[in-house]
Amino acid sequence: MTAATTVTVTGAAGQIGYALLFRIASGAMLGDRPVRLRLLEIPQAVGAAEGTAMELADAAFPLLESVDVFDDPSAAFDGTEFALLVGARPRTAGMERGDLLAANAGIFGPQGRAINDRASDAVRVLVVGNPANTNALIAAAHAPDVPAERFTAMTRLDHNRALAQLGAKLGVGVGRLSRMTVWGNHSSTQVPDPAHVLLDGEPVGFDPAWVAGEFAPTVATRGAAIIDARGASSAASAASAAIDHLHDWVLGTRDGDWVSVALPSRGEYDVPEGLVSSFPATSAGGEWRVVDGLELSPAVRTALDASVAELAAERDAVRALGLLP
Ligand code: NAD
Ligand code: LMR
Repeated sequence: MTAATTVTVTGAAGQIGYALLFRIASGAMLGDRPVRLRLLEIPQAVGAAEGTAMELADAAFPLLESVDVFDDPSAAFDGTEFALLVGARPRTAGMERGDLLAANAGIFGPQGRAINDRASDAVRVLVVGNPANTNALIAAAHAPDVPAERFTAMTRLDHNRALAQLGAKLGVGVGRLSRMTVWGNHSSTQVPDPAHVLLDGEPVGFDPAWVAGEFAPTVATRGAAIIDARGASSAASAASAAIDHLHDWVLGTRDGDWVSVALPSRGEYDVPEGLVSSFPATSAGGEWRVVDGLELSPAVRTALDASVAELAAERDAVRALGLLP
């Protein structure tokens, strides 16, 4: 019997948490491995998280070994191998992600420190809570003993949204598409770039006017469109993207394909070192590797520079708030 893997999920009583936990417990994220779940909530929401824990037990997942609920980050991250940092306030209609900086950034320093001090040496972190890229930067900055590349932020939802739009445009299922890229920040400045997309392994080539005028804005504003339609921010699709991200990190990306992942830059594509930016990446052996050598169109280059400028401004804002060590 394989030893159980410890997974910590923050914001466990929230709407993403509710969609995410059952899929982790089912084996959708890590495959056929027993899982120990540790749920972190703020004290006021511990009761609701206990309710979710009761439902997880009632689902009788064969792979689910235990569920524990905490309101203390140090205890919640003790020995954890996978930390999914979801807990943060979502934006509501009319808010931009920048508005969340002050509200949410304060959560990620203490959690980064707790991960540094208590998590497994092999810990891998996915930040979902917004502004996800900058929250990942804050968490990593508070975890000097953990290699920076173990801190990632989620742009897989943007990637999946882009695939959905391309599939609809071409009238094909998304499973036939590969090599989509989203660059930059998980915000309305993100840069969905289908230039390298393959259909059944063959180049497609999309009309630049459609990409710039319809496709990219639709993908980049999809979060706001969901908030308008549902009256709440995306939840099940966000949870599904988190599952995809961790699944591929652990079990590898498909041969010949890549996915979009926000990673601390090592200077790739002239993104300043340390900013957590979305890149095309493959995964093998539990490590992400940025796809190198792609040619960026002038329009993509300009848009990526603007998104990176936004990331730099977010970093400067949290530094000014005293949230970076
Ligand atoms: P929600 O309000 O339903 O749930 C958030 C939960 O986090 C709440 O239960 C709250 O009590 C908890 N929480 C708050 N502070 C916490 C802390 N310090 N420690 C632990 N738990 C804490 O929100 P949601 O819809 O589940 O969204 C969660 C976050 O994910 C939001 O920031 C949202 O904007 C973001 N999000 C990101 C993406 C993405 O693609 N990266 C997609 C969708 C949503
Ligand atoms: C999304 O992309 O759906 C989330 O980041 C929620 C939001 O605020 O857009």
